[in-house]
Amino acid sequence: MNTRNMKLVLPAIAGLVMLSACGQNDASGENAEGNSEAASAALPSGLTVKEQIDARQTALKNVGKAFKAISDQLKSDSPDIAIIQTAAASIPTETEGMADWFPEGTGPDSGVETDALPVIWESKEDFLAKATDMQEAAANLNSVAQAGDAAAIGEAFKATGGTCKACHDKYRLDD
Ligand code: HEC
Repeated sequence: MNTRNMKLVLPAIAGLVMLSACGQNDASGENAEGNSEAASAALPSGLTVKEQIDARQTALKNVGKAFKAISDQLKSDSPDIAIIQTAAASIPTETEGMADWFPEGTGPDSGVETDALPVIWESKEDFLAKATDMQEAAANLNSVAQAGDAAAIGEAFKATGGTCKACHDKYRLDD
């Protein structure tokens, strides 16, 4: 559905990504309690709950891959700057509109498999502030990457990773 998610083809993405270890739990979909009604309810976005959750998970998976691609290059003896630039450019695009990805009704109570913790909806303002922090850090990482200075990229990458972790520590299951 989201074709821009397909354009990022990065080589050699294997293994676990530090920041993307996501406690994957594939007992997915509607649970035994028959929450499929909630899962298929339409949200203000027009998506069903399941579509909304799938869309954010796909986008975040892509962000995780981009992060891994950058990390791999930064660890390499001869970083491929073009790979870093492509990956860094993808993160602001992938996370555009993140503030709208977690509408009411898309938590674990929906019956759809999600690692989003209910506390998100009790601290929405703080959660959204953390999303903004990440978007700002990712925008900076992208500018620095396009400028091509490896040391500056390393710093901006670390700073961005800190903003991912700040949110995951509090709002994502299994971190
Ligand atoms: C504002 C909070 C927040 C920020 C910032 C954030 N995440 Fe997440 N992330 C989440 C939540 C919540 C989930 C669980 C989503 C779900 O399962 O519905 C998640 C899930 C993920 C996943 C697993 C996706 C899947 O289902 O396989 C990856 C990978 C990920 N995030 C990477 C990142 C990276 C990399 C960054 C930083 C560039 C980042 N995230 C920034 C909240 C955040």
